[in-house]
Amino acid sequence: MSETDLFEPCEFNGLSLSNRIVMSPLTRTRADMDGNAGELQATYYAQRASAGLLITEATAVAPEGRGGDFIPGLWDDKHIDAWKLTTDAVHKKGGKIFCQLWHAGRLSHSSLNPDGGAPLAPSAMVQEGKVFAGGKFVDFEECRALTLEEMPMIVDQFAQAAKRAKAAGFDGVEVHGAHSYLLDAFLRDMTNKRDDAYGGSIENRARLLLEVMEAVVKVWGPDRTAVRLSPIGHAYGAWDSNPEPLFTYVVEQLNELKIGWLDMVEGDTGVSRDAEPSFDLQKLRRLFKGAFIANNLYDRDLALKARAENRADLIAFGRPFIGNPDLVERLKANAPLVDADRRAYYGGGAKGYTDFPAMGEGTAA
Ligand SMILES: Cc1cc2nc3c(=O)[nH]c(=O)nc-3n(C[C@H](O)[C@H](O)[C@H](O)COP(=O)(O)O)c2cc1C
Repeated sequence: MSETDLFEPCEFNGLSLSNRIVMSPLTRTRADMDGNAGELQATYYAQRASAGLLITEATAVAPEGRGGDFIPGLWDDKHIDAWKLTTDAVHKKGGKIFCQLWHAGRLSHSSLNPDGGAPLAPSAMVQEGKVFAGGKFVDFEECRALTLEEMPMIVDQFAQAAKRAKAAGFDGVEVHGAHSYLLDAFLRDMTNKRDDAYGGSIENRARLLLEVMEAVVKVWGPDRTAVRLSPIGHAYGAWDSNPEPLFTYVVEQLNELKIGWLDMVEGDTGVSRDAEPSFDLQKLRRLFKGAFIANNLYDRDLALKARAENRADLIAFGRPFIGNPDLVERLKANAPLVDADRRAYYGGGAKGYTDFPAMGEGTAA
């Protein structure tokens, strides 16, 4: 495929982007334990600013919403200046950057909660597996069902973090509604066993996500508000007995709110692009009225094909951005990509983070 607009400037929702390549949110756990990003993050994101749009790593809206140690936050005003370093650095290089707002819900740990309380969830249950918290891998704990009275607090945490993201100079925000974290856990009937206004019917299970979206839209306007969904992903055992009507309803409601961007993880995140249980996510692409960002296991050919067939407006790459800060240039030149060592994905400092050179700049330390 030679003719493509993948590398061409474009405009969506009034935002001009230098190309259609998005950097997918990537948790790299290099903030401090108070949730501050810093110079290191600023360097890392600025190195990748040739992407049409950067979406930050998941950024916690509450300390108890962290999914592990060294997660950055926006739960406190002190985080605003910390993130400003990043937005300034990215803007200086002509890039655009959204902040991904996150509550890890049942996948957090009591050691991350200032009150020492159990992780929060739609319904009490124990997830198999481990989380890195308190300096070591520990088992997930039994989580606590949020009370009806606590729901406005969650919505407000997202709204306040959205305001801080604005003060920090981001170009927009993305609500993390994927991967079985708090909002996704409410959506799915495997993790949501409630019998109140936030459980049971599809409308009830979607209520918290939609209330959050509405609150964030009040801060940012719909054009600068994105949401990430993973309708057929099974991260952390996420499951719904009938995802097609559930996510069709969610997308219809996102349209009602005029949400500008839908970041769609197509398949099982990082694992497979096969639908299981099978439904055609292109139905959601056709239904959604804003800009559709497609993600999951894209390579150059698949991205070119997706644009040629208009299966997405923008393509988000995750892991390829770790080892290739100039991924856009490399894809354009059809140059070889660096496969970053997985051991450097999470934690540590500059090594395996900001030491990957651009093409022609030598080799990584
Ligand atoms: C190290 C790592 C961290 C990730 N962190 C996040 C995150 O913070 N938020 C999120 O929505 N997805 C996260 N993901 C998922 C990626 O955004 C992306 O959906 C996934 O890697 C599939 O895209 P890819 O095949 O291009 O890597 C992460 C993936 C990896 C490998």
